[in-house]
Amino acid sequence: MADATRLTTVDTVTEAGSWLFTVRDAYGEPDEAILVPCDDDVEAWINRCPHEAQRLDVGRGAAIRDGEIICPRHGSTFDSCAGTCDNGEAEGTRLVPVDVTVEDDEIYLTDRAVTFDHEGGIEASEDDDDDVPSSTSHIGF
Ligand code: FES
Repeated sequence: MADATRLTTVDTVTEAGSWLFTVRDAYGEPDEAILVPCDDDVEAWINRCPHEAQRLDVGRGAAIRDGEIICPRHGSTFDSCAGTCDNGEAEGTRLVPVDVTVEDDEIYLTDRAVTFDHEGGIEASEDDDDDVPSSTSHIGF
């Protein structure tokens, strides 16, 4: 996969629960995205609840239960495979998808609208020397 950026492995996402990374759009503006398990595969979504722009993963891993990503602000849940929400404040919305491709357990960013910047949240690159929790940790239920 010559023109795609390798992100991590499916095993890493499955074991950690989620994987936070930062991308940049065509104007160089940063945004956060998360990889989450979806059945035996993975999906990627912009790390933002459509209701009030709450980060789903605030740097400690996204909260996921029974295949649903839980918004930490008002508790709406999103299908990790479809990105859709049918409950709570965010009912009727959908997370913004980020295109990724899996090949031999390796996950590649294939979304032409963004480029990979770094692993972790937007602030992570400035806090590399601090004791910032790893993006691969997660909250389980
Ligand atoms: S900000 Fe996510 S449900 Fe309100």
